[in-house]
Amino acid sequence: IKCIGVLTSGGDAPGMNAAIRSVTRTAIYHGIRVKGIYRGYKGLITGEIEDFETQHVSNIIQRGGTILKTARCPEFCTVEGRALAHETMRAHGIDALVVIGGDGSLSGAREFAEEYDIPIVGLPGTIDNDLYGTDLTIGYDTALNTIVSAVDKIRDTASSHERLFFVEVMGREAGFLALNGAIASGAEAAIIPEYAFEKDQLAETIENGFRKTKNSSIVLVSESESTGGAMKVAERVEKEYPQFDVRVVILGHIQRGGSPSAQDRILASRMGVAAIEALLEGQRNVMIGIVNDALVYVPFSKAIKKNKPIDEDLVDALRILSI
Ligand code: F6P
Repeated sequence: IKCIGVLTSGGDAPGMNAAIRSVTRTAIYHGIRVKGIYRGYKGLITGEIEDFETQHVSNIIQRGGTILKTARCPEFCTVEGRALAHETMRAHGIDALVVIGGDGSLSGAREFAEEYDIPIVGLPGTIDNDLYGTDLTIGYDTALNTIVSAVDKIRDTASSHERLFFVEVMGREAGFLALNGAIASGAEAAIIPEYAFEKDQLAETIENGFRKTKNSSIVLVSESESTGGAMKVAERVEKEYPQFDVRVVILGHIQRGGSPSAQDRILASRMGVAAIEALLEGQRNVMIGIVNDALVYVPFSKAIKKNKPIDEDLVDALRILSI
């Protein structure tokens, strides 16, 4: 491998810049040329590509977002789109790719790699933590910390007004942010797609809390089709329990921004080094994962399986601690 291309794709995540920096510097360290590809697969199709030297990635480790920009690219989902991307790669002399993104981005990478026999290594870049085969994804820790500091603030007003707050957090169809955000902020419950939470059960938990010692409650709700989101949940609870003074907060895209935590910077840096080493070892079509603090290779086909399990001990811990 003489020249690699690096791109970020899908939703941005804090720590993507640390990953770009690490990939770039590790490749240069090993004598491999680097090309930064802008706007994800879109830039690979249109040729928005720049030669990257070490100074291109100076002073970015602390910045949120991605200096390479990102996009979701429907054209890359088509055979024609991928053919154009392949032509651009050849024209720019790129012989391997590092793709930083979530499951949609890695699904695209898998298809492209199989179609054109291109070595591609993926890095899990998403706040959702929903990729299979890795304990953590780049951006998850920072987003979790953002959620916790927001909920701490909501707690102040919730307890002053003795209110019940439903706080909607991101995660697509995965409940990691909601569940761990609830544990870390001392919330009363989390409504996540992986576990059905009956409305009566929820009201009972909250009612018991109010009857005993609590004068306010906070429930984290995963945005997702199956939970219906915080608005829907709140409407249902309010209708049946008019005694609760209910409010809804949707945290939205603030969860994707901000300077990455130390943990995300370290994770991204380690994974970037591993991505280049993987390519040098002849690995292809794998995502770098981390399991019990050791870096591992996860085949794309496994990483995007979409059924990463929620740890039941965490569900139990939240239930026990919210009495
Ligand atoms: O995958 C990251 C994520 O932030 C999800 O949690 C969320 O569902 C989605 O992206 C939002 O996407 P967009 O920024 O396109 O609205």
